[in-house]
Amino acid sequence: MKGVVLAGGLGSRLYPLTKITNKHLLPVFDKPMIYYPIQCLVNAGITDILIVTGGNSAGDFLQLLRNGSDFGLRRLSYAYQEGEGGIADALKLAEAFADGEPICVVLGDNIIEGNIKKAFDDFEKQQKGAKILLKEVHDPERFGVAKVEGGKVLEIVEKPKSPQSNLAVIGIYLYDAEVFENCKNLKPSARGELEITDVNNEYIRRGTLTCEVLQGWWTDAGTFESLYRASSLVREGGANRMDTVGE
Ligand code: DAU
Repeated sequence: MKGVVLAGGLGSRLYPLTKITNKHLLPVFDKPMIYYPIQCLVNAGITDILIVTGGNSAGDFLQLLRNGSDFGLRRLSYAYQEGEGGIADALKLAEAFADGEPICVVLGDNIIEGNIKKAFDDFEKQQKGAKILLKEVHDPERFGVAKVEGGKVLEIVEKPKSPQSNLAVIGIYLYDAEVFENCKNLKPSARGELEITDVNNEYIRRGTLTCEVLQGWWTDAGTFESLYRASSLVREGGANRMDTVGE
């Protein structure tokens, strides 16, 4: 399995912090934000990773991460997203890199305490389709929200005004090679983006989407409040901390 970190977009919810630099280079406690999704993939055993970036300071990723040897990567590749067409628009750029293999996609502003190894192993047995990870939250309207019955996801609604559950879809997705076909048929949403939620709903329609609930804490870091929270959670300690990388 290969790994993809999506670190494009303009990070406009964090203006002026992101006016001249890329959101994923901002500090989360003692490391640049992008370190955490990379470490998440490495902890699951993935050493072939593509970073999709864009917007401001795209060249700084190369200077910071170089060839990924600080993380023990076998190969670190880069792609550049023009504009801010959405998460699924950024994902399209990973097609040639994936080259028919399954991928684990992590959003560049998502940080978890624990490990996704179990989900990863379960997905390898699943062979076909997609797997998403869910987490109970107190503010589901900020996220994609899953309606689940009997362990099956019936529908995901992106940022619903009246959420049907408190289960947020976190920004870690496991996909088979079909994902790129699904991305091609998407239409921009009301916010003008190609939505990853539409990709996942297509897998639901085909009956090949499974889900698991993530153990340990999870946060995004794309708003002032969540960026602050992310730093506090990392500072308080967690299995995904990196005490040796990039010193
Ligand atoms: O954090 C989890 C949530 O992430 C999910 O629950 C939602 O379903 C999903 O749509 C997403 O919601 P956000 O609105 O919070 O996503 P945001 O626009 O903040 O983008 C998250 C990351 O995706 C960002 O850090 C980099 C990447 N991205 C985003 C856009 C819009 C790109 O690479 N390119 C883009 O054009």
